Amino acid sequence: MIRTDPRTPDLFITPVDEVFIRNHLGPHPRLDPETWSLTVEGLVERPLRLDFPAIQGLPQVHFTAVHECFGNPLRPHVPTRAVTNLEWAGIPLAAVLELAGLRPQAQHVWLEGADSGDFAGESGLNYLKDLPLDQASADVVLAHTMNGEPLRPDHGYPLRAVAPRMFGTNSVKWLSRIVLAADRPDHLFTTRLYTRVLPGESQARPVREKDVSSKLLTPDDGRPIPAGSRELAGYAWSSTEVTSVEIAVDDADWQPAVLDRRGPDLAWQRFRLRYDLAPGPHRIRCRATDSAGRVQPLTGDRNAVHEIHVVAETGMRPAER
Ligand code: MTE
Repeated sequence: MIRTDPRTPDLFITPVDEVFIRNHLGPHPRLDPETWSLTVEGLVERPLRLDFPAIQGLPQVHFTAVHECFGNPLRPHVPTRAVTNLEWAGIPLAAVLELAGLRPQAQHVWLEGADSGDFAGESGLNYLKDLPLDQASADVVLAHTMNGEPLRPDHGYPLRAVAPRMFGTNSVKWLSRIVLAADRPDHLFTTRLYTRVLPGESQARPVREKDVSSKLLTPDDGRPIPAGSRELAGYAWSSTEVTSVEIAVDDADWQPAVLDRRGPDLAWQRFRLRYDLAPGPHRIRCRATDSAGRVQPLTGDRNAVHEIHVVAETGMRPAER
């Protein structure tokens, strides 16, 4: 089930009410933390079954990170721009792996959710993703809190994985089982969907690290605004730090925007540019570049340059910005 996006507001932290919900296999499972448990099995020295208090007893971490949906896996190149920036709390996956003890053959971490259902013509599926062990142990957090409140049922209550450098599809909700394995699992959501061929490559790879991307949030797309000096602003993000954002109004040249540094967390970065908008209709575009040298394409891919259309009017009361 894919729900439509609410508009992401122009706030640094996205309110929980505005966060998109992507449940591929139907309504969320109803899990009771009194009976729920997380098992850790496969290539481990000590298979584990952890209940919720045991999880809460482990060392906690707090961080802010962009949470972005890759888009519809059946149409991997179509932009959806469903993106939020959230505060998470939970325990590092590495702490659980340490408790279980890894066998030397363990190379991949499989993360399984408690939901099941049908998708893309396949029935009786569960939700399963996998990550390379080194990336998963370095980055993945098992989160129980979103923006300071317990996860809501649709967002994975009581526990979900958060892979902050990666697209949301890797952040498995209603986490119920972790398997350490020597190989990747063959599954609809691991090897058959959520794969893509990146520009300049010939082999498909799994959808993991976020693309470089940016989104204009001010002014409001499609809304009239007063003509004159206006702030054009939004957020940029990537799996690495974004190093520049440029803005183009109509057919004018790209102009560098002022861009905030990213800081220690994997949060998004605000950009802004003051611009004198003449009366009339305008097309405004933004384009980000990241520290890996990746630049948003003008067209043709899911992270293509974002554009908005506004009409600047004379005689309108100036907005606060
Ligand atoms: N985990 C489970 N168990 N089932 C799902 O359908 N959807 C994934 C991911 N984790 C999904 C899941 C996708 S495609 C995305 S984009 C994010 O969860 C969305 O998380 P949210 O609904 O909390 O925003």
